[in-house]
Amino acid sequence: MNIATLSYYRNFISRVIKAIGIQPEDRILDLGCGTGRNACIMKTYFNDAGTITGMDISSVMERQFKKKCAKHKNTKFIRQRIDLPFSLPEQFDKIFISFVIHGFPHKIRQTVIENIYAHLKPDGLFFMLDFAEFNMSKMPPLYRFIFKTVECKYAFDFIERDWKHILESNNFSDFEELFFFKKYVRLLKAKK
Ligand SMILES: C[S@@+](CC[C@H](N)C(=O)[O-])C[C@H]1O[C@@H](n2cnc3c(N)ncnc32)[C@H](O)[C@@H]1O
Repeated sequence: MNIATLSYYRNFISRVIKAIGIQPEDRILDLGCGTGRNACIMKTYFNDAGTITGMDISSVMERQFKKKCAKHKNTKFIRQRIDLPFSLPEQFDKIFISFVIHGFPHKIRQTVIENIYAHLKPDGLFFMLDFAEFNMSKMPPLYRFIFKTVECKYAFDFIERDWKHILESNNFSDFEELFFFKKYVRLLKAKK
C-alpha cells in the first residue's frame, strides 16, 4: 500500500477515515483489514460502545493486527475468507473494504458484495476504497508503469467497470464519491 500510494499512505488514509464519518457508537467491519493500521485510526473515533472488527485471510495479518490492536478492547480480529459466503452473528453500521476487491475475479467480487449486503444493518453504509474507473491507456506513462508493475491482472478489468451500476444491481443506493490521487483512487459510499 505504501508503494501504491507513494508513501503518502498515513495522511491519505486519515483523510479517508475522516470522510467515512464514524460515529462514537458505530460497529464497523473492515474486510481484508491487513495489519490493523486502519483499525487503529478508526478506533480513535469511538466511545466504549464503538467496535471495529477486522477480517482477513492471512495469519501474518492476524498476528500484526493483534499486536497493533491488542490493547484496544473495542477491536477484534476474525480470520476468515471474504470471497466465500460467511455468516456472522451481528450486522454492522458500516462496512469498509480498502484495496481488496479489485484483486478478485469479477465473479468472486459478487460473493464479496453479497457478504457485505448481508452483514449491513438496514440503512447501513458500505465504503469501498479502491481504484476509480479510468482508462489505463490514457494514464501518464510513469503512472501506467507503476500501476501495471504493482497491480494484479484483475485490477485491469476492475477499473473498467461501472461500480455504481454494479452496486445498484445489488440493491445499494444513495451513492457518494470522493476522489484521491488525481482521481485514480475513489472512496465510494453506498447505502443498503
Ligand atoms: C492490499 S492489502 C489491503 C489491506 C488493508 N485493507 C489496507 O487498506 O491497508 C489486501 C488484504 O486483503 C487480504 N485478503 C486477500 N484475499 C483475501 C480473502 N480472500 N479473504 C480475506 N482477506 C483477503 C490480504 O491478506 C491483505 O491483508
